[in-house]
Amino acid sequence: MGTGYYIRKPVGIVGIILGAGALATIIALSVVYSQEKAKNIVPPTDAGTTTSNPHVTTTTPAPSNKPWTTPAPSNKPWTTPAPSNKPWDKYRLPNSLVPDNYNVTLWPRLTADLTTGLYIFTGHSSVEFECAEETDLILIHSNKLNYTKLDNGKFARLVSVNSAVKAPSIKDSWLQNVTQYLVLQLDGKLVKGHRYHLYAEFTGELADDLGGFYRSEYIEDGVRKIIATTQMQPTDARKAFPCFDEPAMKAVFYITVIHDHGTTALSNGKEKESTNIIVDGHNLLKTVFEPTERMSTYLLAFIVSDFTYISNTTDRVLIRIFARKSAITAGQGDYALNKTGPILNFFEKYFNSSYPLPKSDQIAIPDFNAGAMENWGLITYRETALLYDEAFSSTSNKERITTIIAHELAHMWFGNLVTLRWWNDLWLNEGFASYVEYLGADEAEPDWNVKDLIVLNDVHRVFAVDALTSSHPLSSNEDDIQKPAQISELFDAISYSKGASVLRMLSHFLTEEVFKRGLTTYLAEFAFKNAVYTDLWTHLQMAVNATGILLHDPVENIMNTWVRQMGFPVVTIDTDTGVVSQNHFLLDPDSKVTTPSHNYEWIVPITWMKTGVKKELVWLREKSDTFDAMRATGSEWVLANLDVVGYYRVNYDRGNWDRLLSGLNTNHMLIPVINRAQLVDDAFNLARAKIIPTVLALNTTKYLKNEKEYMPWQSTLNNLDFFYLMFDRTEVYGPMQDYLRQQVTPLYDYYKNVTDNWIKIPDRHMDQYNQVTAISLACRTGLGECQTLAERWFKNWMDSGENQIHPNLRSTVYCNAIAAGGTKEWEFAWSVFQNASVASEAEKLRSALACTKQTWLLNRYLEYTLDPTKIRKQDATSTIVYVTNNVIGQSLAWDFVRARWSYIFNEYGGGSFSFANLINGVTKRFSTEFELQQLKQFKADNADVGFGSGTLAVDQSIERTMANIKWVAENKQNVLDWFEAEAISK
Ligand code: BES
Ligand code: ZN
Repeated sequence: MGTGYYIRKPVGIVGIILGAGALATIIALSVVYSQEKAKNIVPPTDAGTTTSNPHVTTTTPAPSNKPWTTPAPSNKPWTTPAPSNKPWDKYRLPNSLVPDNYNVTLWPRLTADLTTGLYIFTGHSSVEFECAEETDLILIHSNKLNYTKLDNGKFARLVSVNSAVKAPSIKDSWLQNVTQYLVLQLDGKLVKGHRYHLYAEFTGELADDLGGFYRSEYIEDGVRKIIATTQMQPTDARKAFPCFDEPAMKAVFYITVIHDHGTTALSNGKEKESTNIIVDGHNLLKTVFEPTERMSTYLLAFIVSDFTYISNTTDRVLIRIFARKSAITAGQGDYALNKTGPILNFFEKYFNSSYPLPKSDQIAIPDFNAGAMENWGLITYRETALLYDEAFSSTSNKERITTIIAHELAHMWFGNLVTLRWWNDLWLNEGFASYVEYLGADEAEPDWNVKDLIVLNDVHRVFAVDALTSSHPLSSNEDDIQKPAQISELFDAISYSKGASVLRMLSHFLTEEVFKRGLTTYLAEFAFKNAVYTDLWTHLQMAVNATGILLHDPVENIMNTWVRQMGFPVVTIDTDTGVVSQNHFLLDPDSKVTTPSHNYEWIVPITWMKTGVKKELVWLREKSDTFDAMRATGSEWVLANLDVVGYYRVNYDRGNWDRLLSGLNTNHMLIPVINRAQLVDDAFNLARAKIIPTVLALNTTKYLKNEKEYMPWQSTLNNLDFFYLMFDRTEVYGPMQDYLRQQVTPLYDYYKNVTDNWIKIPDRHMDQYNQVTAISLACRTGLGECQTLAERWFKNWMDSGENQIHPNLRSTVYCNAIAAGGTKEWEFAWSVFQNASVASEAEKLRSALACTKQTWLLNRYLEYTLDPTKIRKQDATSTIVYVTNNVIGQSLAWDFVRARWSYIFNEYGGGSFSFANLINGVTKRFSTEFELQQLKQFKADNADVGFGSGTLAVDQSIERTMANIKWVAENKQNVLDWFEAEAISK
């Protein structure tokens, strides 16, 4: 995404028709390329302001993938065309044509052409559409495809379905690059209510760009293998074949794939038949798939590989797990296979709607940009998100597999069966799946208490960004989301984690029964169709009315306050007076919100308890209200937002804070575990916003010497991360380390004991996590025993060749050993990384390699991140972010990203998550004026190149840096004094 205005690699244009002289033609491709391109492609212009005369021929800049030859975008006035209102310059399709079904045949080549070195695919497709409004123009999405001129001399042929109505002929056909259309001008009108067939033949590159129809590679038994696979969401189906590529343009797809013997073709539908076919003397297979259900283009998938699979059947559904042969043989697909059936059944019950397809395939792809993708009937995953190997994978790897399967399976209904009309409502799709993934995972692993973790993983995570003025509301206007990069930008923490958090809140205050009832009727009404998010409110309201639960306000009014304005409230409870009030919570109290249309008041459900006794829910429906019951006397304390089900923070009068703290110190078990995590997180963040003193926040960590539970510890660590980022280059660092070492030592000793000196692994899921937390923090704070342990385990592995470190502990042990070691340790880990046959083991090493303290190794590692033969493209940005986690690596990574921005942007821009993460990552330590200036300069210098899906992240980083500068100035001395005082008084 976001490469915008220039073509990176050539793809041949003419003469390729399936089955006709394909190889010879490929060779001819590069020769004819530059001449043909001029006819085929309208000169690219600045996004948004394009106008193109189809008759002008221009030469596009020489294609190149070298960063230093990237043509600079032109900002010369004489090359910028005047703004135009031509339909093909708009990003949204007109309403004139409605597709009904497609017939698509694709033939990906899994060997490179010898002359050009390119991998390509060829294909032909026809789409049957109905004319809804009379028009003489056909716009159909197409990106980076090159068309064969047909016998009419045009890129497509049009025929009428009804022989009584003659189709007009195509006057002109061209490609509109910026808006990604194949444009066909007709010499007469299409007739309203009539159907037509549009046929085209095309070629595309099977590039390693992780988007559209693309190529993934891996080595098996010393042999390099290629697979062809797809990632269409959000707007890359148009890279595979010409289509009406908007989510509301649902159709039925008849897919055929041509492929080599010895390979398998998969798609959304079940394989119907595979027959021999001879093309140019090549003996090939043609696999025809059952037609799909009526569905959106972004959910299509086609894959050709020599993978193998395991399968089972639940009720009527065939479940298969596909992966590399060696991974399946090693049993790495077994866990996913065992969990899929129960999760699928769970969602059938939860939605009260049966899974409509006869099969559910899930496949692990070696190169995959996101974590997983919910293609209907053929879900694709990163290897680490699907494959589990007991000898290599940690508990957290296992949990990720369960939750990600649950997330994608939830989309089979919510997203696939019922699809939001346009991408502006993406938050409901992703937020919903991100909430119910916990419910599905809980069904699969009921002993884990996994539902609690939404508070750390989503609620706390998104509070951090939603407390900035650069945040944005969940809901966007349809008109504001047009370009592919704008769509990609929506896949952010707000859509996922805030979406999940507010839906969880909604489900709780409605009760799960009412929530499910609303979902069921919503899914039933809109099955195989599209909806907008307010349709869900309508159905939930119907469920409320039908069940007679008492709500003061309509669902829509309540939810509008959470969905249509950004941010969230801090609810302040004064236990002296019973007055409860709300304010927009901003991390930087001096920052100004410039969206005046909102009043920043919410309708807030407040669950609460008094000194351990749970009370009735109350609603805060005004800026402030009085609840006499919330007055506390004597040693009573009030605690609100139980289990952090509400999307808000809570502050109290100082007396209540003190009583809560003394409650923590004397009998912390009286406070629910999730709320212990919350008290720490709220206190630290209220302190950052200058609502309470920083010292009060630090005081919440004192009770931890008695805490054995994971969530409060992890919450503390997440908050202390900020202290590390701000202070690990300052004099605060030493005393801070002393204090934290002192606090964590009892936990470390506890786990040493429980595990018989690190031989066993704790039984409970959360205890397994907390064991890792204990070791990580102990080693991080320099507990000698911990460091020796890590080094000894690693050395044993290096000496014996046998890795006896438990998978749960590997990440932290590897990191500490590599940090303490030198070149030898690094090279050892690098060579194991390169040969790893289990993706989750490779991932642990890849992150640990960034822990070295050797500058030259870090710099060399950064270079490796842009060499796809060393670090897969899917992992490039996260590896750079790993380097920034290392205090030494931070500035190296920042220099690296600045120097290579345009290259990184163009070469790695296919992804949606990565840019925001990268920018937030390299800037997260920024806390000086000098760094702020550098960041602003970076923004200005690259205004032309752009930041694509990272655009918002740049502004967020600037805002964060300004807040950090102030925070450090105001807090450094206090914090230093506090750590010094606490570190010596045991
Ligand atoms: N639909 C997304 C995958 C996706 C993300 C496609 C961004 C295109 C752009 C999928 O359902 C998803 O959300 N995957 C998550 C996993 C989930 C457990 C949060 C992912 O990929 O990380
Ligand atoms: Zn999703």
